[in-house]
Amino acid sequence: MPDIFDEIATLKKQKNAVILAHYYQDGDIQDVADFVGDSLELSRKAATTDASMIVFAGVHFMAETAKILSPSKKVLLPDLKAGCSLASSCPPDLFGRFKARHPEAAVISYINCSAEIKALSDYICTSSNAEKILRAIHESRPIIFAPDRNLGAYLAKKIGRPMILWNGSCVVHEIFSEKKLVALKTRYPDAPVIAHPECEEPVLKHADYIGSTSGLLKFTQASPARQFIVVTESGILHQMKKASPDKDFIPAPPDNACACNDCPYMKLNTLEKLRDCLAHETPEITMSEDLRARALKPLERMLAIS
Ligand code: 13P
Ligand code: SF4
Repeated sequence: MPDIFDEIATLKKQKNAVILAHYYQDGDIQDVADFVGDSLELSRKAATTDASMIVFAGVHFMAETAKILSPSKKVLLPDLKAGCSLASSCPPDLFGRFKARHPEAAVISYINCSAEIKALSDYICTSSNAEKILRAIHESRPIIFAPDRNLGAYLAKKIGRPMILWNGSCVVHEIFSEKKLVALKTRYPDAPVIAHPECEEPVLKHADYIGSTSGLLKFTQASPARQFIVVTESGILHQMKKASPDKDFIPAPPDNACACNDCPYMKLNTLEKLRDCLAHETPEITMSEDLRARALKPLERMLAIS
C-alpha cells in the first residue's frame, strides 16, 4: 500500500499541481512541498508558476493572494478554516470608515489581510519589504498602516515617521513573555535572540536581529553563533535545523502554561487534508473578478517596488 508521501507525489504529478508551503507548516508538510518560503517569496512563486493547480499549505489570506495573482489557476487550501488573527482583526466595513477619516493618507496594508482590505489599500507589504515600500511614500503624505499594530509601531520607529495604526495583532507573536525571554538570555548568554517583527516592543527590544521568517533563517545560516533563541512560530525551526544541523535552536517561551508557540490556524493543515484536497480538488479559493482586480493593484505595486 502506498504511504501518504507517495500518494501526494502521484496526485501532484497527475494534476500538474505545485505545493507551496509557509515556514509555519508542520515539518512533514514542508518536506512534501515544491517550495517553502516567507510570504513575499510565496507570492512571487504563485505569480510565476506554470502549474495548473496551486495547493497552498498556509493560511487563507496566502491562498487568496495566490488566486489574486494567478486567476487562471485552481488554488486549493487544505483546510478552509485556516484563518489568521491579523486578517480577522480588520473587518472591511470598519476599516473603510477608519480610512474615510483620513482621506489624505496612503494606505499600506500588511499582506496578512483579506482581499477586501487589499482592495481598500494603496500598497501591500510583507515583513521583508515593508521598509522599502514605506520609504517609497512621499514624506508629506500621512500613512495608515494596517492591520498589525506591532509591526506598524516597529516600522514607524525604524523609518522615523509616525503612522496611523490599525489596532490588530497576531495571537502567536503577542503571547511571548518578556520575563521568560530575559531568563532564557541569562541561561544562554552567547545565543543571539532573533525575532519576527509581529512581536510586541518589550520583546523586540531584546532582539539582536529582527526579520521575516526567511530573514531569520538566513541569519542563522550566516551567523557564527552555535545557539539561537528564536522568537516566532515554531514551524521555522524545521528549516533552521535542516540548514544547520550542528546548531541549536531554542524556542522563546510564550506567556502561558503550555510551552508551545504554534499558530493554531497554520496547524489546521495536515498531510491527510493536503492529500484529500489534491484528490478531490477542494476546498477551492474563489472570488469575484471585480474584487480580484481591485485587490491586484496594490499587490502589483508591491511586487514592482520589492
Ligand atoms: P513572513 O513569512 O512574511 O515573515 O510572515 C510571517 C507570518 O506571520 C505569516 O503568517
Ligand atoms: Fe496569522 Fe499570526 Fe498565524 Fe501568521 S502566525 S497566520 S500572523 S495568526
